[in-house]
Amino acid sequence: MESYKIAVLPGDGIGPEVMQAALKVLDTVGEIENVRFDYEYAQVGGCAIDETGAPLSKETLQMCQRSDAVLLGAVGGPKWESLPQDQKPEQALLKLRGGLGLYSNLRPTVVFPALADASSLREEIVSGVDVMVVRELTGGIYFGTPKGADKNKGWNTMVYERHEVERIAHVAFDLAQKRNGRVCSVDKANVLDVSQFWRDIVVEVHKDYPDVELEHMYVDNAAMQLVRTPKQFDVIVTSNMFGDILSDIASMVTGSLGMLPSASLGEKYALYEPVHGSAPDIAGQGKANPLAMIMSVSMMLSYTLDLPKAGAAIQTAVSEVLEEGYRTGELYRQGDKLVNTDEMSDLVIKKMAEVRENIA
Ligand code: IPM
Ligand code: MN
Repeated sequence: MESYKIAVLPGDGIGPEVMQAALKVLDTVGEIENVRFDYEYAQVGGCAIDETGAPLSKETLQMCQRSDAVLLGAVGGPKWESLPQDQKPEQALLKLRGGLGLYSNLRPTVVFPALADASSLREEIVSGVDVMVVRELTGGIYFGTPKGADKNKGWNTMVYERHEVERIAHVAFDLAQKRNGRVCSVDKANVLDVSQFWRDIVVEVHKDYPDVELEHMYVDNAAMQLVRTPKQFDVIVTSNMFGDILSDIASMVTGSLGMLPSASLGEKYALYEPVHGSAPDIAGQGKANPLAMIMSVSMMLSYTLDLPKAGAAIQTAVSEVLEEGYRTGELYRQGDKLVNTDEMSDLVIKKMAEVRENIA
């Protein structure tokens, strides 16, 4: 029987509960597909700080390096907010991204038909939106040096090397070829030298992709365009910090941050996590929406584990469960069927078995 080693990092806040909900789905995939998933657990973020003094231990990083894929819940919370910058829970994420070489972060923003009226934007603006944000994840201002702060000054450096821009541009163009053939590269080339450099290299790489349409946009305009006419976008490729901001904006187009999965990929490793954070205000109450974590599992099956049919079955199951009116609290409105984290996961499981039978 085929078996896969999955490193499981539940993290803080709602991380453990959405992880548990998603692993139930993955267990069911194992049964349906007749494959085995071996889970290896470790703590990261605030809970790891409490236990070991550091947000990510060397052993945990090594465990991830031995895995076929990493699943991560969420990290952070008010308890650890006043720690010095280099000791905060968020460092676990940055160290994983850096340590595993996960330079490309894919954040698909898809509006499910059943949720088209849940966005704060009008239904006709959002229905049918399908945007892939490709965020560079191991460079730019998040990782540049020099950086620091003293009493009178704080500084970071936004720097990109040629190979970093080239490889992320390739990711974006390759994806566009499989989608709708359009890439929008977002930068601030009217002000920043590093952005002009980024733009020049994207133009160079584009020469290999005559079948893909390339457009450039300044980040302030892109932020505005995303809420004005999100349907104009197919693939957006951008630097680390611009991608962080734009993917949060894009997420609200879908109605809830609780709906967005992500894949972080490199040459050797892959990590899947929801875009949302640890939501300490609702942690431990069974209110969290597990769908972003469940769809992160779906991305893992499709992108890394070569089980694309199972990945697609999860996606369809989620869509149908929403279609039937089931909602977790943050999306609930009168007339919906309110469910908790665990119930949502059970609904997806039940649906998935049906769906998979139909397409097997
Ligand atoms: C994200 C998060 C992280 C980031 C934080 C928690 C370090 O906001 O994954 O989008 O800024 O990259
Ligand atoms: Mn973010």
